[in-house]
Amino acid sequence: MKNVAQERRQPYVIWHEGYVQPEDFERRNGHRGAVVWFTGLSGAGKSTIAREVEWRLFEMGKHVFVLDGDNVRHGLNRDLGFSPKDREENIRRVGEVAKLFRNAGMIVLTAFISPYRKDREQVRKLLPEGDFLEIYVKCGVDTCIQRDPKGLYQKALRGEIPEFTGISAPYEPPEDPELVLDTEQMSVEKCVDAVIDLLDRQGILHLSG
Ligand code: ADX
Repeated sequence: MKNVAQERRQPYVIWHEGYVQPEDFERRNGHRGAVVWFTGLSGAGKSTIAREVEWRLFEMGKHVFVLDGDNVRHGLNRDLGFSPKDREENIRRVGEVAKLFRNAGMIVLTAFISPYRKDREQVRKLLPEGDFLEIYVKCGVDTCIQRDPKGLYQKALRGEIPEFTGISAPYEPPEDPELVLDTEQMSVEKCVDAVIDLLDRQGILHLSG
């Protein structure tokens, strides 16, 4: 799709098509590239599940990599905070990086709160249909407060962290995600099985024949 604003800013930047196409990576890797987008509150279990899925796929010989909010914010996105504008930019950049990984034939697992529906939909639009799988890691805020693995909810409740998702900033759940994982009901292992099953059903893993 043409991006008019970008064309105005960069009229002399020309896209170069490579010789190696997505289907060439697919043939060599034995699976398709895809972006698996985990969204949910801090402490819902996004990173834990993404890491376990990564390990499972790695053991199966798949090319896989996790992009994680806390880590990406130490490097590429260390200039960004948590205002709606900064979160939008965070997700935009991560979407572009995930797209590059997917174009390189990898299964990318992303673990970002990504609280705004419109920001996630923008990423979906970057990718061919079927190559963006949105997974809602569902967990009530009360349970996240109980878990509080990083002690951030306690700080947020004391007013020490402004704009904290679920406490003083909104979270918009997906309306039509490819999968919902209710981590108050399901074990990590069950969640991982469900993700692998989704990837198989979507024809990404080439397992079922
Ligand atoms: S996102 O909203 O822009 O998608 P992202 O997933 O990158 O957020 O980062 C979330 C992580 O940053 C949380 O897991 C938490 O450890 C930390 N964090 C620090 N401040 C905040 C805040 N105000 N709201 C949410 N998470 C925060």
